[in-house]
Amino acid sequence: MVCPPVVPPLSWLDPPGGPEPPPVERAVPGDAWALAELAAATFPLSCPPEVQPEEIAYHVAHQFHPTRVAGWLTDPLVVVHVGRAETGLAGYSRLSFDPAEVEPAIWPQLTLRPTCQLSKCYVRPEWQGSGLADQLMAAALTAGRQRSARGAWLGVNPANLQARTFYGRHGFRDVGWRHFEVGGRLFTDCLMERALAEPVVVRRPGPAGSGV
Ligand SMILES: CC(C)(COP(=O)(O)OP(=O)(O)OC[C@H]1O[C@@H](n2cnc3c(N)ncnc32)[C@H](O)[C@@H]1OP(=O)(O)O)[C@@H](O)C(=O)NCCC(=O)NCCS
Repeated sequence: MVCPPVVPPLSWLDPPGGPEPPPVERAVPGDAWALAELAAATFPLSCPPEVQPEEIAYHVAHQFHPTRVAGWLTDPLVVVHVGRAETGLAGYSRLSFDPAEVEPAIWPQLTLRPTCQLSKCYVRPEWQGSGLADQLMAAALTAGRQRSARGAWLGVNPANLQARTFYGRHGFRDVGWRHFEVGGRLFTDCLMERALAEPVVVRRPGPAGSGV
């Protein structure tokens, strides 16, 4: 089984523009509350229409409780980067080296070891298309290389064409499937993987545009 192809939207014909992305930094423990709010606000953007509001609310309440998010920021197996705008946190990425976060069925589908999971990459709508996501990706993948990972992988809903296009531009390729639970219901995500050894040249200029 393969993921359905991504069909480019007409927005690809739009001229470039929009705000400059804010700086990307490692998140610090003091970011926990703001990061929890950001995670709660952006998670629904990744959900297909069939996910019910109460399922999203359940997921957000459990997965993005500030206490849980604070734990990410002190976990040596987790690296979180944020886009720090003057108006607050604009986006974040979360990279995990924790094998306990990986479902057993995922391991045989991955081709590269050691590996790391890009478990979150979320940008507020007003910063999408700004290049912030590229910088969050670049920071995460650099962290993966610094810890000697040979590959990185992620799960994404097949209907999330914006994210799949973005990940494809960053060199991720479909390698299989995984189950992902939202509010007690299982959904099927595309599993994507890329090698970290070779930089992938992306379209936008700047730190990420030189290859991540
Ligand atoms: C995924 C995400 C971080 C990417 O950030 P972004 O700023 O939108 O990314 P970019 O603009 O650099 O790239 C998105 C690409 O998708 C394209 N795109 C936008 N809408 C699309 C659609 N409906 N179908 C296909 N492609 C689409 C854009 O044109 C762009 O392609 P391009 O780079 O060739 O121009 C951001 O969209 C986001 O936070 N989405 C909501 C949360 C989410 O889904 N996170 C991922 C969870 S796995």
